[in-house]
Amino acid sequence: MLGDIAMAVGARSAVDVFTGTTRVAQEFKRRGIHVTALDCATYAEVLAQCYVVTDAASVDKDELSEAVAALNALPGKVGYFTDTFCVASRYFQPKNGMRVDAIRDAIESGYRTSALYPILLTALMLAADRVDSTTGLQMAYLKRWAPRALNDLELRAPELLVGDGAAMRGDASTLIDDVPAVDVAYLDPPYNQHRYFTNYHVWETLMRWDAPEHYGIACKRIDSHDDSTHSPFNSKRAMP
Ligand SMILES: C[S@@+](CC[C@H](N)C(=O)[O-])C[C@H]1O[C@@H](n2cnc3c(N)ncnc32)[C@H](O)[C@@H]1O
Repeated sequence: MLGDIAMAVGARSAVDVFTGTTRVAQEFKRRGIHVTALDCATYAEVLAQCYVVTDAASVDKDELSEAVAALNALPGKVGYFTDTFCVASRYFQPKNGMRVDAIRDAIESGYRTSALYPILLTALMLAADRVDSTTGLQMAYLKRWAPRALNDLELRAPELLVGDGAAMRGDASTLIDDVPAVDVAYLDPPYNQHRYFTNYHVWETLMRWDAPEHYGIACKRIDSHDDSTHSPFNSKRAMP
């Protein structure tokens, strides 16, 4: 639908200002439109690097498959992720948390400067998402394990798109000045007071891999209290 609208107006360029999952930016890219995906979340930037910035034609598919297979074969180990999200809280089964710890460390040490870095991080995030024990948001986890949480974590190579695009991370209200003129702008800001930073704090931590101090039953990041992690778009008064 949004892709059809962009095509109907003959758009060659677009910006997806609150890109989140990047699914709208992906649709624009699929239509051959050069898209800039912008969001303040680290996980959104990683998704944008994977799906919007990376040109599928430039990726060695065999190298990617081998990397995914090697990461899937790693034995688990206890680390911050297991301690925080499987023991102090119950977002994931420990068997999967331990695999996340091992795989995330291996991505950081083996692929930090590789073009595969955002692709492998995306594969890990999506794999963890398939075995989590929440209703989607990470404000809380389920009292009883979700059936899917019992499955084994398994990375799959993400479906990449041909073409190029751009990713930007930061506060849209200031960063928007740095976006070049575009034919179409799509804006999907937060629609209530609930903050994406705390709703998806596990993904933020998994992508940053910064082992933050945490608080409360949900083990939210301590920097959730900082002004820098608040968005004017979550406030009825500040948003306009
Ligand atoms: C309603 S969601 C967008 C969903 C997206 N259209 C999708 O399909 O996944 C709002 C997004 O705005 C982002 N956001 C919130 N405040 C922001 C800000 N000040 N600057 C940039 N992005 C912001 C959040 O991280 C979240 O991804």
